[in-house]
Amino acid sequence: MSQFKDELITGKAYDAKLVRRLFSFVKPYMRYMMLAVLFLFIVTFLDLLPPYITKIAIDDYIAKNRAGEIYKIIFFYQAVLITHFLFQFLHTYTINLMAQHAMYDLRTELFTHMQTLSFSFYDKNPVGRLITRVVGDIETLNDLLSAGFVTIVGDFFSLGGIALMLLFLDLKLGLITLSILPVLCLITLIYRRYARDAYRQARVNQAALNAYFQENVSGMSEVQNFTREEANFNKFDSINAKNRDTFIKSIKQNAMFFPSIELINAMAIAAVIYFGGMEVMNGTIGFGVLVAFTQYINRFFKPIRDIAEKYNIFQMAMASCEKTFSLLDTPPAIANPPAPVCIKGFRGDIKFDNVYFEYNANDEILHGVSFEVKAGESVAIVGRTGSGKTTIINLLARFYDIKSGSITVDGVDIKTIDLGSLRSHIAIMQQDVFLFSASVDKNIRMNNPELTYEQVRAAARYVNAEKFIEKLPQKYNQPVGERGVTLSVGQRQLLALARAIAFNPGIIIMDEATSSVDTETEFLIRDAMKKVLKGRTSIIIAHRLSTIKNVDRIIVLDKGRVKETGSHEELLKMRGMYYKLYELQYREQEENEKA
Ligand SMILES: Nc1ncnc2c1ncn2[C@@H]1O[C@H](COP(=O)(O)OP(=O)(O)OP(=O)(O)O)[C@@H](O)[C@H]1O
Ligand SMILES: [Mg+2]
Repeated sequence: MSQFKDELITGKAYDAKLVRRLFSFVKPYMRYMMLAVLFLFIVTFLDLLPPYITKIAIDDYIAKNRAGEIYKIIFFYQAVLITHFLFQFLHTYTINLMAQHAMYDLRTELFTHMQTLSFSFYDKNPVGRLITRVVGDIETLNDLLSAGFVTIVGDFFSLGGIALMLLFLDLKLGLITLSILPVLCLITLIYRRYARDAYRQARVNQAALNAYFQENVSGMSEVQNFTREEANFNKFDSINAKNRDTFIKSIKQNAMFFPSIELINAMAIAAVIYFGGMEVMNGTIGFGVLVAFTQYINRFFKPIRDIAEKYNIFQMAMASCEKTFSLLDTPPAIANPPAPVCIKGFRGDIKFDNVYFEYNANDEILHGVSFEVKAGESVAIVGRTGSGKTTIINLLARFYDIKSGSITVDGVDIKTIDLGSLRSHIAIMQQDVFLFSASVDKNIRMNNPELTYEQVRAAARYVNAEKFIEKLPQKYNQPVGERGVTLSVGQRQLLALARAIAFNPGIIIMDEATSSVDTETEFLIRDAMKKVLKGRTSIIIAHRLSTIKNVDRIIVLDKGRVKETGSHEELLKMRGMYYKLYELQYREQEENEKA
């Protein structure tokens, strides 16, 4: 579970710098905040009244036999309760209005920022952790804003108010009652300490449980195929048991804490009844005072419990603040240049000049790659798995920056080109096609409202995808499921091709999937590619050499270096690496045909 240690909360419960920054999100909604504070003060004040009204009812009306007028005080009592209800509602409403608006803004900023972060960031940050940031941490901050800051002020105010009322009602009895305060504080401090540890542990366990669950559901087909159900169950069971035990431990603490506070309350009430009872009998105080005292003592309990609980919210929220802001402060590894160039009259000349690249320090993947693709040419890149083909594409679209050398498009270094402009000219059909859980239409148009329905259909027809789409029950409106699970691999590739074509890019890149498709689909894809490539700068990364016989040039890549370049015939004549690869595939094909 060590990888979830960063879910451990060890920091402070209050950090002025973080809080100030969090409040910059609250600022636009300050009027709600102010109203909420005002309403809370009214609520807390109204909370103090009922015991005092009881005292008046008993001492001034009941004890004095004013039966005919008692309705007055009852009426007042009810008016207080109704007003209390109203302001409680207003407080809850305005405080949540403020918190929800502030969190909406924070979430928007976070999402916008995450869209600027580059591939290298996502290589290192697993999805689960980012979801925790955007969902879990923001939820915690919402708790802090809606139930933390303001109410804790209310709690202290309420405690102070009760103490004042006690002293005002009867100084001696008041002092006796308040003598329980130190004991209450001590118990609360002890509880807080243990509760915090249990709380932290629970969070680590929860993160581990979530991650394990998520991975197992995603990989359910593998789990069932390799019959790992039992083994995985056992692993899950141990995490689950740990989770249960931590919770039981923290429940034990709660079960100790809350009754012990009630016990102290009861003792305080007993003391008040004893000493106060004497005074009532002596006639020094009215009976109503005694009743009011017992009611006030019961009201002590709520704010104290709240304050003890809120400590956790504060501490968690500070940790959430820190992580959220550090994500917001992560600079994108690849940013737009200060004075970005927009290419006018885009042609599509590509040139790699002595390019060196590494994903991670000291692990060089490309060692001086140079090649050129003239506008309108189609070039294929072939090579063993892991030789760096996909990497070259990632560099061209500037998903990563190179170590040295240069990549130019139309003679302009891509580092000086406006990122959006560069990428808008390049359409990549990724090796593993990613479809969104949306309709076929939405997957082709990719949220581009400018594309007409006809254009989407034309793109699908052009790449031979229409035939299968028309067979779907809802045709273009058919949802494809998460990652396109309801479609076959070949169908997904056809959709991705349609998506690339609908984009009408200057440069098209196809990173052929390694997984094979049936002969018919292969034919459809090959036919589509032939049409797509005509007159466009294109780079095709091919595993099936049969698909690239028609390209202008083939680049053979080996371990991050360009090994051979030439047309299909030229490379065969060379009898080098390409020849060997081709022989291997050709012979296999012949044997298949014979069989
Ligand atoms: N995001 C990444 N972080 C670190 N290393 C990576 C990353 N992506 C790829 N690599 C490494 O870079 C090398 C080249 O990978 P690349 O994906 O370019 O190969 P490829 O030629 O496309 O292979 P294939 O034919 O299997 O698709 C591999 O050794 C791989 O381990
Ligand atoms: Mg690849």
